[in-house]
Amino acid sequence: MPVILGIESSCDDTSASVCVDGKILSNVIANQTIHQAYGGVVPELASRVHQQNIVPAVQQALFNAKVRKNDIDAVAFTRGPGLLGSLLVGVSFAKSFALAKGLPIIDINHMQAHILAHFIAEKKPSFPFLCLTVSGGHTQIVLVKDYFDMEIVGQTLDDAAGEAMDKTSKILGLPYPGGPLIDKYARLGNPDAFHFPEPQIPGFDFSFSGLKTAILYFIRDNVALNPNFINENLTDICASVEKRIVTILLNKLNKAAQAYGIKDIALAGGVSANTGLRQGLQQLGDKNGWNCFIPKMEYCTDNAAMIAIAGYYKFLKGEFANQNIAPLARMIF
Ligand code: KG4
Ligand code: ZN
Repeated sequence: MPVILGIESSCDDTSASVCVDGKILSNVIANQTIHQAYGGVVPELASRVHQQNIVPAVQQALFNAKVRKNDIDAVAFTRGPGLLGSLLVGVSFAKSFALAKGLPIIDINHMQAHILAHFIAEKKPSFPFLCLTVSGGHTQIVLVKDYFDMEIVGQTLDDAAGEAMDKTSKILGLPYPGGPLIDKYARLGNPDAFHFPEPQIPGFDFSFSGLKTAILYFIRDNVALNPNFINENLTDICASVEKRIVTILLNKLNKAAQAYGIKDIALAGGVSANTGLRQGLQQLGDKNGWNCFIPKMEYCTDNAAMIAIAGYYKFLKGEFANQNIAPLARMIF
């Protein structure tokens, strides 16, 4: 019955979770609101707030799980990728806690953890499966052969899908992070009101920078004709942009699923919280006879439960890290 404490601090959420024998008993997430004033995450501020939040988040996670410090068998933490200053807080905390308690430590790749979040639920995907991982920094189609044997078969050549959401919202004058707001307004608008181009990229790769420019020019030109254009059309713009981003993602995922002949298809990362994407995948899956795995909302955006569950599977394999391990801002599988 291994008890794993999971720590996540790669970007702007400080999170701690307790996993007992593969079951998540707590998942505490301290969000940072300070960045809203700046229109994006300010790395230096993020690491300072992590320092304030990390101890209370861990205490709360232990309390919620009704687990004592002495019950913990190992500490799993996000090693990367992410903001170095943010990662340092979680990595340093995990190492010091483990050192003080004489516990082993387990390093986790954040992008793999987003995918392994699917092993928290009762209904788990079977290997091999395909996962579309869409976050603020990544857009990947991953062939998941085993818990820690994953291959990126397609990825963005420039911006990530979440970035496309966030940059669109910035152009529209909405606060950061814009993804959830685009989602909210899109539900009230007409997705066919405006047409945005679909980039023609070979294989299973993506590109979102052309779309961003097309949106920028579209808004600029229309605001020049009507200064009230954004206010009068906000819901239709959000619905049309969301529809295009979702179709770009699902068309490539569909292409990859056909090419690999795989029917277990999963979604992961912050953008998997998007209503249009969740519904779109389910519809496509119903049409193609896929088993679709769509994470619970709390496991879409950054959380430590995915770190704790990934830590559990590494614990079973006996794969531990050394105390001299350092965080990595860039990290591949
Ligand atoms: O995985 P995540 O929490 O952090 C990274 O590792 O990047 O993903 C954050 C991204 C942001 O770009 C945010 O705008 C987007 O996920 N996001 C959404 C929604 N919720 C979060 N995008 C669209 N619709 C949402 N409901
Ligand atoms: Zn993430």
